[in-house]
Amino acid sequence: MAVADSPVIQQYKRAKAQYPQAIVMFRMGDFYEILGDDAAIASDVLKITLTRRRTAQAGDEGIPMCGVPYHAAEGYIGKLLEANYKVALAEQTETPEQAKKARGSGALVNREVIRLYTPGTLTEESYLPAESSRLLVALYGSTETNRMEGALAWMDVSTGDVGVRSVTQGSLPMVLAGLSVGEGVTPPETETLFAQALTQNGADGRRLVSVHPGIFTPHAAQESLKRAYGLADIGGLGLPDEAAVRAVGGLIGYAELTQMGKLPRLKVPSLVASTARLSIDPRTRRNLELTESLAGRRADSLLGVLDACATSAGARLLARWVAEPLTDVAAIAARAEAVTLLVTHAEARTNLRNHLRETGDVARCVSRLLLGRGSPRDLGVLRSTGTVLPGLASTIQALAPKLPPLLAHHAAQLQGLGKLTAKLAEALADDPLPALIREGGFVRQGYDAELDHLRAMVTDSTGLLEALERKEAAASGMALKVKYNQVWGYYLEVTKAQLESAGQTPPAHWVHRQTTTQAHRYTTPELMALERDLGSAGAQAQRREEEILAELLEAVKAHSMALLDVSEALATLDVLANLAHVAARQTWVRPVVDASDAFDVENGKHPVVASKVGDFMPNGCNLTGGQLWLLTGPNMAGKSTFLRQNALILILAQMGSYVPATRAHIGVADAVFSRIGAADDLAAGQSTFMVEMVETAQILNRATPKSMVILDELGRGTATYDGLAIAWACVEDIATRLGCRTLFATHYHELTALEGTLPRVSCWQVAIKEWKGDIIFLHRVEKGAATGSYGVQVAKLAGVPAQVVARAAGLLEGFTKTSRGRGVMRVDELSLFAAPVAAMPETPQENPIEAKLKRVDVDSLTAREALNMLYELKGMA
Ligand SMILES: Nc1ncnc2c1ncn2[C@@H]1O[C@H](COP(=O)(O)OP(=O)(O)O)[C@@H](O)[C@H]1O
Ligand SMILES: [Mg+2]
Repeated sequence: MAVADSPVIQQYKRAKAQYPQAIVMFRMGDFYEILGDDAAIASDVLKITLTRRRTAQAGDEGIPMCGVPYHAAEGYIGKLLEANYKVALAEQTETPEQAKKARGSGALVNREVIRLYTPGTLTEESYLPAESSRLLVALYGSTETNRMEGALAWMDVSTGDVGVRSVTQGSLPMVLAGLSVGEGVTPPETETLFAQALTQNGADGRRLVSVHPGIFTPHAAQESLKRAYGLADIGGLGLPDEAAVRAVGGLIGYAELTQMGKLPRLKVPSLVASTARLSIDPRTRRNLELTESLAGRRADSLLGVLDACATSAGARLLARWVAEPLTDVAAIAARAEAVTLLVTHAEARTNLRNHLRETGDVARCVSRLLLGRGSPRDLGVLRSTGTVLPGLASTIQALAPKLPPLLAHHAAQLQGLGKLTAKLAEALADDPLPALIREGGFVRQGYDAELDHLRAMVTDSTGLLEALERKEAAASGMALKVKYNQVWGYYLEVTKAQLESAGQTPPAHWVHRQTTTQAHRYTTPELMALERDLGSAGAQAQRREEEILAELLEAVKAHSMALLDVSEALATLDVLANLAHVAARQTWVRPVVDASDAFDVENGKHPVVASKVGDFMPNGCNLTGGQLWLLTGPNMAGKSTFLRQNALILILAQMGSYVPATRAHIGVADAVFSRIGAADDLAAGQSTFMVEMVETAQILNRATPKSMVILDELGRGTATYDGLAIAWACVEDIATRLGCRTLFATHYHELTALEGTLPRVSCWQVAIKEWKGDIIFLHRVEKGAATGSYGVQVAKLAGVPAQVVARAAGLLEGFTKTSRGRGVMRVDELSLFAAPVAAMPETPQENPIEAKLKRVDVDSLTAREALNMLYELKGMA
């Protein structure tokens, strides 16, 4: 038999009903309690004990509960957020005494959710990594036709950055992959689609996306925009269509919900056409290890070797540049021009970077301050940054009589904070400033006469209070302290341990005031009198300091646009100087970037591998005019490295960076596609072969003549001739239909027969040297086709026991003979190299396998259909 909920539980349930998607942390005395279903989740994530909350009522089963001490809440909240949960903090909004006074004895203390933490709307330093962003992303799309079309808006609540771009069902995963999504929000119609697209990016889409229909309606969206930007008409924002309005409006609406109605200062949404960014699908990003290595390490990624930024805002911006290279030749040139100037002026660059090191994370400080979560330290950061700006600006001005436009623009952005900086310098005490407002003491002595007067009184009173403390301690024989809080004023505090260990009861003239977990608090008639005499100078001083803080916050608010400009300028200058620093240190070269179909690289290097391998062998590559290079060579020769390095060089060039080569000419690509390795995507429940085919289908369907395609070991996911047939058909399709710049590494030696029969196809190999039955890797790419796979030699190098290597060599000889004799056999990589090219049909264009493959829409196949088709193809072969 269920018992009725106790009043506290009813209060809890009301809070939970308000925030059903969040874990509610419910303040009970010195603890936050987590109840019901939330308790099971929290005890799991936080590794804390799960118990039950029971009343004394008979038959009460109680409800599941766990709890965390209130003073340690920050760490626990951080862990829940890290696991992508939202947290609603329900606080006591009155003291028990206030409750008693208002509603009689036994009245329940009022509790309300005062803060909602969600992974995409954080501003606190303790919850945010300094060097990466956690964006809030909103999708609004019309699903009237079968394919969703709409807009994707994003916001960095911690900096006020806002952006929007149009998306389609097809481009969504790619656009999302370029953003570092902390959380998503969307109306119900697009929930599934949004979650799936995020999941493709390796995130837990289901958990990240929340659904809010109300905030996306045309009316609600418009109102949110008007509120956020203080506009009567949103026309001036230049949002291109209704979808963009509803996406940005919904985004702001959600941000307001989480910030309890407050908003940071938002920048005007930046509009980016999806064609203005190099399109890189999620898998290609992972394969190329752009922002983290396959093992999940940032240091071993392109971003890792590029990042020597002086500031964390710079590191975050660099991550965005790496994630979203440009396609516009002029925009790329503008960046490259600025980098060049900084490459050639080494001393100014060092100066600039040293200045930048003294600046702080301005945008994050401003957001925190405007959201009412700032601390005196945040103001201190604005002061110290403001002090550095004049020196920074003159360093840049001195670079050249006429600065490149990008540098001139950002140098100009550094102006406009003189007054604010002066005010902060005048008002704030010296560093270190307190982290909390209530600690006080952050206003400079001499800034405010009233505050100085109050402080003087406090100093005197301190002496008097200390005298009283000494007197009471001597009289009672106990160690005690005079303390102050807002509720009780001054009181004597004695630890319980003191009282108990001495076995003493307090002196008769002590009046008990309060018992805490560790101590008893008392007052005495003398102390009360003293307090009256002194007035509450301490409290008044604190209040005065808070008033001054409010004035300073107003000043910050008035300068918020200028502050955001400064923050943008600092981050951009940092990235430009950083790219120049990296280029100069490693003697990279500025590529020629234009709208041609060139890809001509001399002595290219893999930026990450070359930073680890001392004697990296540079290799050229020329795909100009849509060439397709067929690359063969034994395992470990360096094929995959070569493929990736050329894609990375393209990406660096389109970021506006220098590239690791001695010369490079690159026509901008619209997209990079890659299919590398044959890792089983077990988590997604797909077989290797299926994964390969899905990826291959995506590439063939999406690539254009302006794309760059990297295919590594295509067909490896299947044995026998299936893989060869598919690889063959793909090479044909790319070379004849697409004609895009392509690198194709393969273990199918047969494919080398395509050189000469197909336009633009040529054979290249990674050279090795044979020496006394061993092989030596030269890592040199040269014209021609590899003549063997050297699998056995590689096995020997790898330390496979001698008897096994010898046996394998014998077997291989046998296989090769059999294969020559019979024409077809089940073959693996080893014998495929030796299988006769003649086994393939003379006129590959009429190959029935190819014809079948061309007809099939791989995207629409179920796993079972794909398997059936595989059997069929195998039969045909
Ligand atoms: N150009 C190079 N110079 C020096 N070492 C290289 C070069 N390319 C590759 N390597 C080394 O060889 C290893 C194997 O390269 P990889 O590209 O994986 O070979 P493959 O794909 O041909 O099996 C790499 O981890 C790297 O250490
Ligand atoms: Mg490889």
